[in-house]
Amino acid sequence: MLVNVPEFFSATIGGRQVTLAAATESVLLLRVSAEEELAEYHSYAVDKEFREAAAVARESPRRFRLGDLAVEVGTEPFVLRVSRGGRVLFETAPEALPPEPHAAVRLDRRREPDERIYGMGETGETFDKSGRSADLWNTDDWRRHPLQSFYAQIPYALHLAADGTVLHGLFLDNPGRQRHDLGFKDLEAACYEMQTGDLNAWIIFGETIGDIVRQWTGLTGRISRPPMWAIGNHQSRYSYYPESRVREIAAEFRKRRIPCDVLHFDIQYMDDFRVFTWDKNRFPDPGRLLADLREEGFRSVTIVDPGIKVDEEYEVYRAFTAEEGLVLAERNKPPYVGEVWPGKVHFPDFTNPKTRRLWGEFQKRALLDIGVAGIWNDMDEPANFPDQCVPGGLVHEDFGQRRTHEQVHQVYGHTMAQACCEGLRTARPNERPFAITRSGYAGTQRHAMIWTGDNESLWNNMPYDIQLNLSMGLTGITFVGCDIGGFGQQCTPELYARWIEWGVFQPFCRTHTSWKTRDQEPWAFGEEVESIARRMIELRMRLLPYLYTCFVEASENGTPINLPLFYDDPSDAATHHISDQFLLGRDLLVAPVVVRGMDRRMVYLPRGAWHHYWTGKQYAGGEWYIVEAPLGQPPLFVRAGAVIPMHPVRQHTGDGVVEEVSLDVWPGAGLSGHLVEDDGISEDWRRGVESRVSFAGEASADRLRLVIGAPQGPYRAPRKRWAVRLRVPAGRISSLQLDGETLPFQPDRGAVRAVFEDTRQRREIVAVLRPDPAS
Ligand code: GLC
Repeated sequence: MLVNVPEFFSATIGGRQVTLAAATESVLLLRVSAEEELAEYHSYAVDKEFREAAAVARESPRRFRLGDLAVEVGTEPFVLRVSRGGRVLFETAPEALPPEPHAAVRLDRRREPDERIYGMGETGETFDKSGRSADLWNTDDWRRHPLQSFYAQIPYALHLAADGTVLHGLFLDNPGRQRHDLGFKDLEAACYEMQTGDLNAWIIFGETIGDIVRQWTGLTGRISRPPMWAIGNHQSRYSYYPESRVREIAAEFRKRRIPCDVLHFDIQYMDDFRVFTWDKNRFPDPGRLLADLREEGFRSVTIVDPGIKVDEEYEVYRAFTAEEGLVLAERNKPPYVGEVWPGKVHFPDFTNPKTRRLWGEFQKRALLDIGVAGIWNDMDEPANFPDQCVPGGLVHEDFGQRRTHEQVHQVYGHTMAQACCEGLRTARPNERPFAITRSGYAGTQRHAMIWTGDNESLWNNMPYDIQLNLSMGLTGITFVGCDIGGFGQQCTPELYARWIEWGVFQPFCRTHTSWKTRDQEPWAFGEEVESIARRMIELRMRLLPYLYTCFVEASENGTPINLPLFYDDPSDAATHHISDQFLLGRDLLVAPVVVRGMDRRMVYLPRGAWHHYWTGKQYAGGEWYIVEAPLGQPPLFVRAGAVIPMHPVRQHTGDGVVEEVSLDVWPGAGLSGHLVEDDGISEDWRRGVESRVSFAGEASADRLRLVIGAPQGPYRAPRKRWAVRLRVPAGRISSLQLDGETLPFQPDRGAVRAVFEDTRQRREIVAVLRPDPAS
């Protein structure tokens, strides 16, 4: 998109053009030219038009007021300082700009002592990037595995002061190579260098992390509601083939009653790795196979790699070489020949809308028309053997600017995901697209979810994967998840059990493993692990309405689905460095066991009160605890006051009609919860066809009151009944009433359960409680 925000400040400093614009009352755009003048600014990330700038009041030649922000700009030397109520939130360092053009353009920023830096997508080994440096260049560099991945490095971070003050979000929009020094050389400074092109810095201010995230995802886009099946359980390996093996896997899931919605087809379904083909020996009738799987409730997702095999006999090759500009080439040269799985390949130029259209047509014909439900885009950094890079001089269409690969490398995966998603939307206009990508850039969440690539079946990979999910979420890419059980190396029973124990709480839940590794299906590790996996996947299926409501919230204001503990309360500094625990939505806290042989672990509970999920025991927050964690019972806590809507266990998301939704009520001073429902598959929600129910109330030592609001919106869920499960021992209930009339209830594993008709009206439940003998 062409970005054109009218500037309120413009100057030539050290031979460079510098402009400052206010996109909104709390978002500044600082531009610094690489050469003498700024180039036209087309962005792959920004998804919002700013035709008018926000009102800026000039208080003096150097001082401006923007909403509640004071903005100070100096030219000799360049200074930009932004503060609110006297508190400096952003400040350039002395000599913030390089002295002369022709050196790579860079910006230096003053860092606060002990400032925390979060986000950056898949950058670096640590959650807080402070004190580190980063070379942002997406790559499939397996030599750097397992504790680093660089498929989707994103030049955006959230900055937090040590006291929890939210400083700003900073996005350096430039799809070429960038180098960030985040306090590596000098603890008091951060430096952002653009290897090619202009510097476009978006600086976002807000009082809370949620404010920053809302604005950041307002700028670059949010996920859209996924099809419900995509948030069920997925199973994959490199690769399930031939057809009989795929059928066997599907049958095992159903026979063993382990829920599963999606099976993945990795590269060996293709004819000698030719994209958009099927291997006719392994899969003689793929359409029939996919239809049979569908009958059993499985959706199929196929992998798609960008490299097109060089082969005159191959239709896709002929189509993409029929005219210039569809595949990458150097200026006035024949198409570049690289090497990936199929041998010699050409790489499509997905910045070219014509390429994207043609790609979408093949995707439709070869895959969607025969029943493939979703697409998994891989190797889209792009990977190229053996050096993992394509030459920097290849030319891209690039909004008609015809910049070189070196200048736009970071958006290769982003634009491939765009081609995929546009193709899905064109082929199935009223169905929600489901696309996965490995590589990406800021804003990729508009087109696809990102899975975190090739991890390894190693214990120390798990905390890293948790950290990645959190970093990605703060970067705006919240539909994310890692390969459960690990991709490379050999998984063991205990490792698989511990992995699935938290893997089911990721937005994306998929087991995947490499070629020639041991079997990694949930039943491959013996009965004990199988039953743990079943129970954990069943719990995910029961949590679907809660999880789906989190996805809806993410689509509306960008809130990550997996949240770091400090998200709503950064003033609690104890939470700042915890990246081996996470929240799923606001109400569930997961503390995975990531050490072999451990049967307990330290858990930090944020302020407030919490219930231990398995025992119901109440804990006070703001404290560390040692929590028992026998295999199969990972430390899992629920916020006191949470009302969590739950479904019955189903073998897949289309398995029968949900007639009863159960509300799990965890007593706490204020009760609250939400449920958003729609048909889970179509785009009708965009036209308002949805329903929202809110739950509210309060609980004290002697009384609990819960109000189920009347559903808002035209969508009618097939539900006939509500069940409430009050997490209070039956002996404490002295009476239970529904809208003033006695409501019968049964004791249910340390709680009580009552069922009543869903009249689609407001309903009020009041429990009068006897004193708690324990208190
Ligand atoms: C890449 C992917 C992996 C896939 C393999 C074969 O390594 O990251 O998930 O299984 O390629 O397609």
